[in-house]
Amino acid sequence: MTQIPEKIPQHVAIIMDGNGRWARERNLPRLAGHRQGVKNLRRVLEACGEFGIKYLTIFAFSTENWERPKDEVRGLINILEGVIDTELDVMNERGVQLRHLGRLDGLSEGLQAKVRKAVELTKNNNRLHLSIAWNYGGRDEIVQAVEKIAAAGFDAEAITEELISRHLYTSEMPDPDLIIRTSGEQRVSNFLIWQGAYAEWIVTPKYWPDFGREELLEALIEYAERERRFGRVSEPVSSH
Ligand code: IPE
Ligand code: IPE
Ligand code: MG
Repeated sequence: MTQIPEKIPQHVAIIMDGNGRWARERNLPRLAGHRQGVKNLRRVLEACGEFGIKYLTIFAFSTENWERPKDEVRGLINILEGVIDTELDVMNERGVQLRHLGRLDGLSEGLQAKVRKAVELTKNNNRLHLSIAWNYGGRDEIVQAVEKIAAAGFDAEAITEELISRHLYTSEMPDPDLIIRTSGEQRVSNFLIWQGAYAEWIVTPKYWPDFGREELLEALIEYAERERRFGRVSEPVSSH
């Protein structure tokens, strides 16, 4: 069996892309791809637990995804609600702390309350921090942070990177070390544009429903081999 590397990223973020193409290749409706995507999330969550990943952030719905056909948007909202209804207790028992990144606008009052309740219920869990980016946009997040900072009356000299970070949805989380995008697309699509400034990127051709434990492990192995320099130069090789 492939060995699990020692250097495991603390925070992995995933752009779960390719559900639609996965469905199209099988002559299924796009929503069937999204449902398969949710099933896959269970596998990936288990694998994260096994590999010792502490923070997993998943991109489930962007601020731009509202532009999709109404039926698809409605279907995605139903899927979100279904996940909370069916998975919350199991996740809670397994020590998952849930967080929502994004705006709750656009969801019914009932579903907004469910999301808040799920976050509240799991807030003291500590085994795995699962953040669901739903109605999330990186630019929107920064705009909101700036609004809050302005409303609080901070002086120009007080504006620092740390202050902005503290006003983002991710204020209590470490930045992502590794961002994975499935389905081969090589773009950011407005995901964690501030937090991902120095994340390592891995793009895999696999569609999200086909991205399982083995694919995650492969990504972790590639991550472990990378050298993160953060703008510095390589550590000198010791001469002897
Ligand atoms: C990702 O799959 C899920 C969401 C954006 C909600 P897509 O629906 O974008 O799948 P493709 O890119 O059309 O294959
Ligand atoms: C990004 O995927 C958003 C999610 C995975 C939720 P999209 O499929 O919406 O992104 P683009 O349109 O290909 O950039
Ligand atoms: Mg897509």
